[in-house]
Amino acid sequence: MATMLAIKAKAIKTYVAMESFFADLFADKNIVKFEGSGATVVFAVKSLNQVFKVPTRDGLKFFQIELDAIRNAEFAHDLGYVYAAITTANAEMIRQIPKKCNALCGVGDPIVSMPLLSGTTALEALYTKKIDTQIIARAIVDHVAKLQGHQWYNTDLKLENIQLTDDGRVVFLDWGSLCKKDSNCPTATFAVIGHTTCPRTCGSLAAVLTLAELFKLPIPDDRKLSEGVYLDLREEVLGKLENPHDHRLRQNTINAF
Ligand SMILES: Nc1ncnc2c1ncn2[C@@H]1O[C@H](COP(=O)(O)OP(=O)(O)O)[C@@H](O)[C@H]1O
Ligand SMILES: [Mg+2]
Repeated sequence: MATMLAIKAKAIKTYVAMESFFADLFADKNIVKFEGSGATVVFAVKSLNQVFKVPTRDGLKFFQIELDAIRNAEFAHDLGYVYAAITTANAEMIRQIPKKCNALCGVGDPIVSMPLLSGTTALEALYTKKIDTQIIARAIVDHVAKLQGHQWYNTDLKLENIQLTDDGRVVFLDWGSLCKKDSNCPTATFAVIGHTTCPRTCGSLAAVLTLAELFKLPIPDDRKLSEGVYLDLREEVLGKLENPHDHRLRQNTINAF
């Protein structure tokens, strides 16, 4: 089981890595490179108030999954996902891509563009600000339940993929985490042994782990968990969400996971 310290160390490491990355690489203050999974390059062009996402050489498969989700799960825009559009890279856009990032993007290739959101990720906020974890938890439960209503799943949900904006919104990032019911290769950092190709189980586990991290519960180190470990953690998370005055929350949660 990871300790609280390990979780905190992860948050601090991300933060420090981001800071040093900015300092070393970007003399151009107009471009801000974000820390992501490594499969893609994500950067903001501040003068345009836009964020762009392009694949790296190793991330083409994940980028394709992301493009498919943006094209096929348009309803997710109404379920708290950041507005995302697919545009075609032109020479000027390609010039903006930080050189050291190994991006694989030429003129005419698809590129994802989003509005630049204010605030920080939920992970960063958890260790640097005072936040209401129950409000965030409810947004997560609501999001997961509604997605499931469309038979789509957020199989790589995590606090790094949730942005808390300065005006109090909980916004889900990373369309590459979305997959539909009949897909058998969900993008998932964690999986339940025996169910690694099941989008619904991966989505449920991701939600349980995200809520566990939010509530600062000890979470397993392993990426493949037994059914028993998963079910115990799910119970623990449900307990933390329990609110006797909010039957809808309870019902949504049970339905969602
Ligand atoms: N529209 C946005 N506005 C502000 N920050 C963003 C936006 N999109 C992504 N980010 C930042 O970039 C990081 C990586 O983006 P993400 O889409 O999760 O990429 P990856 O698929 O590589 O993980 C996020 O954790 C967040 O900090
Ligand atoms: Mg991400």
